Amino acid sequence: MSNFTATAIAHPNIAFIKYWGVCDASLHLPENGSISMNLGALETRVTVTFDSHLEQDELEINQQVVLGERFHRISEFMDVIRKLAHKKTHARIESENKFPMAAGLASSASAFAALALAGSKAIGLELDEPSLSRLARRGSGSACRSIPAGFVEWNAGTSDRSSFGSSLAGPEHWDLVDCIALVKTTEKMLSSKEGHSLAHTSPLQASRVKDAPRRLEICRNAILQKDFDSLAVISEVDSLWMHAVMMTSIPALMYWEPATIQILKAVATARNEGLSVFATVDAGPNVHVITPKSNMNEAVAMLQSLPGVIKVIVSPAGGRAYLV
Ligand code: PMV
Repeated sequence: MSNFTATAIAHPNIAFIKYWGVCDASLHLPENGSISMNLGALETRVTVTFDSHLEQDELEINQQVVLGERFHRISEFMDVIRKLAHKKTHARIESENKFPMAAGLASSASAFAALALAGSKAIGLELDEPSLSRLARRGSGSACRSIPAGFVEWNAGTSDRSSFGSSLAGPEHWDLVDCIALVKTTEKMLSSKEGHSLAHTSPLQASRVKDAPRRLEICRNAILQKDFDSLAVISEVDSLWMHAVMMTSIPALMYWEPATIQILKAVATARNEGLSVFATVDAGPNVHVITPKSNMNEAVAMLQSLPGVIKVIVSPAGGRAYLV
């Protein structure tokens, strides 16, 4: 093997039913299933080149050489790919994000989905969609949902083989948009990897996990039937329940900023006044405001009028991870 290269693009995703808490921290087997929508306007592009002259992996993110913790996480993931292919060659990895990193915009999901696809292709593996999703999951749990297209359900499973994402409906199924109200674009205080391992310390996690099949069913049906009101109610409950777990973990995790609450209240008021919008928040302070495309301009104007909002990024549903 001398020089083998591939480039892939993947979109991040926003979960309506969230993944929080792990049964197996190294395989990223989640305590509960989850459902998300890929974000077509945001993307990570990853090129992997296996080069037999390299003595170790090399990583560049947005044209900057990356070492330390982040490098080790990627290199360990490359070990998973090498093991699958029974090869030892090291690789050069170049990753480019078209959005602010590590601010709760799930950049790790799109990055590991694109890396799983480009890396497996470059090393000569031909993986089907479930296998690619399982591989992406090894990098970051939510990355398994960025492999299939559109609206994706991650079946929690009980083993490496049974835990992967599959598409419930393509991106064209429903013209929802995510209006992401950015209140902070800097690094989040605690990585979701550490957060998952604290979930069990909250007295609210067991009930959250136990009720997950019910929420998943309501969310799945709401998506299939394009029932916005049902999706709104169940997604908001799910997001708040996850944050309640975070806030009651030991030590407590408070990802919200004052502006986060300001936006949540403004979204609730707008909905009471008849606008079809709902809000969901990942492991960060930014708020994802979901609305049908027909209401997009109104929702964006409402968000931009709030003093704590730095910027609003808009995205429709996106397709699967693909090779370029
Ligand atoms: O994939 P991770 O380890 O970054 O965890 C993602 C966790 C949340 O974004 C908070 C929820 C989710 O399901 O995406």
